[in-house]
Amino acid sequence: TILVLDFGSQYTHLIIRRLREINVYSEMYACTTKLSELKFKPVGIILSGGPNSVYEKDAPHTDPAYFDLDVPILGICYGLQELAYRLHNENVVAGTMGEYGDADIKAQRVDGHVDRLFEGLEDDMKVYMSHGDKLANLPDGFHTIASTRNTEYAAIAHKTQPIYGIQFHPEVTHTPKGIAILKNFAVGICKAEQNWTMANFVDIEIARLRKLVGPKGQVLGACSGGVDSTVAAKLMHQAIGDRFHAVLVDHGLMRLNEREQVQKDLTEDLKINLIAVDASKMFYAGLQGISDPEAKRKFIGGAFIDVFEKEAERLEKEAASDPERAGKIEWFLQGTLYPDVIESISFKGPSATIKSHHNVGALPKRMKEGRGLKLIEPLRELFKDEVRELGRQLGISDRLVGRHPFPGPGIALRILGEVTPERVEIVRQADHVFITMIREAGLYDKIGQALAALDLSRAVGVMGDLRTYRHIVLLRAVNTTDYMTASPYLFEPDFLARVSTRIVNEVPGVCRVAYDYTSKPPGTIEFE
Ligand code: XMP
Repeated sequence: TILVLDFGSQYTHLIIRRLREINVYSEMYACTTKLSELKFKPVGIILSGGPNSVYEKDAPHTDPAYFDLDVPILGICYGLQELAYRLHNENVVAGTMGEYGDADIKAQRVDGHVDRLFEGLEDDMKVYMSHGDKLANLPDGFHTIASTRNTEYAAIAHKTQPIYGIQFHPEVTHTPKGIAILKNFAVGICKAEQNWTMANFVDIEIARLRKLVGPKGQVLGACSGGVDSTVAAKLMHQAIGDRFHAVLVDHGLMRLNEREQVQKDLTEDLKINLIAVDASKMFYAGLQGISDPEAKRKFIGGAFIDVFEKEAERLEKEAASDPERAGKIEWFLQGTLYPDVIESISFKGPSATIKSHHNVGALPKRMKEGRGLKLIEPLRELFKDEVRELGRQLGISDRLVGRHPFPGPGIALRILGEVTPERVEIVRQADHVFITMIREAGLYDKIGQALAALDLSRAVGVMGDLRTYRHIVLLRAVNTTDYMTASPYLFEPDFLARVSTRIVNEVPGVCRVAYDYTSKPPGTIEFE
């Protein structure tokens, strides 16, 4: 295992992800974690980047004991400065000329050889830099192994010990050879085993879930039929069988025929115990008169909790006389992914607030306050494409695994302004036309996510010689792999024209269709 100590960089999770790509297992801990708190001995340590300056009063620092452990260490960006700080105190200066973006580094040869960190690579490499501080001098015992035009110590290595520091970020795709550098470190220098595979992950995770929940533990799970919750549910079902209860909340904000389809997929294909609860009346009543996006999310989050808590109570009562299933439901399963988690476990420690990417409002927190349900999120380290691979590994069909994401609050996030049954129906019908035509054109798997939404205002039109004043449907489709950034999908114009004609003809109340060309950022994928 490689230990990754997180100093709060937005890229720290990418280090773990890249190591998984070369089949190396790593674990991330807050940088303040003491060596004595670890339950394993790492074969190597990576110190991540971070937003601070090492000489700031509150700057985070590692336990010096790691430096006596006698395992290879790689400091990245802030991690490099932390190395210098720990090993020789005077070396970091606030950069007079920071570097942000692409830079060219040149590996330095010593006796005609490049360092082991750059073995097998060209001397000249493109790398991604993002730093304000840099080293002013070499720490004692180190030499330079690569430089850029304005950063002499872009990469340094200890002359006798396997300690490395690099100013650039090898974990981002903007450093094309970054993964090879990480491999040289992890496999070449640390001799980490390359035995991480998705199949192993399944075995380890199932064993972990069984242990966590215990032999009698019962788990309730939010199941929307989307990729993430389906994969999480299948994993949990594999771990504890029918002590897992999947709950599908039909809030009346799902897509056309979706509830029936999800019920069929989960119960018939995946043999998961699924309870569908029709709560649409309650949701519509509560959404009446609300047009503010945050107020909508808040209400929906709260309403979800009410349904889950009621269901937990009902299930407990129902199972009270069954010795196999009797007992309190203590756990709650959510399919949260890494990109849903805006804040990583920062150096403030594991107790720092972890925001769920608007995951059905403030669900986890309120859940804890209510019945005291404990949250299980087996996918929270994974990215979307990895979850899809995991799903395939678990035998879930390509059709399910390849579905575009659909948010927990459903169509409510695609209606600007008030959510009413009439407005939901327009989006539902328009979405159905759009997605069906995308599928027929063979484009579904090429698009990250496609959706229809409803604008706040109406527009004037002319239909059958008469003036109309009707709704405007908005269409959006994006290219993305991580859902953290996205660009508009560029359809052939005549395809969009055909979709537009069909929507205006087939969806009552609509006289205009517009296509959204905004990237994320500055837009987001959903409209609210
Ligand atoms: P945004 O709109 O933030 O969305 O660019 C990024 C991805 O997250 C999905 N999303 C949600 N998923 N609950 C969810 O389960 C939510 O509240 C939520 N909001 C956005 C969105 O569909 C996209 O895939």
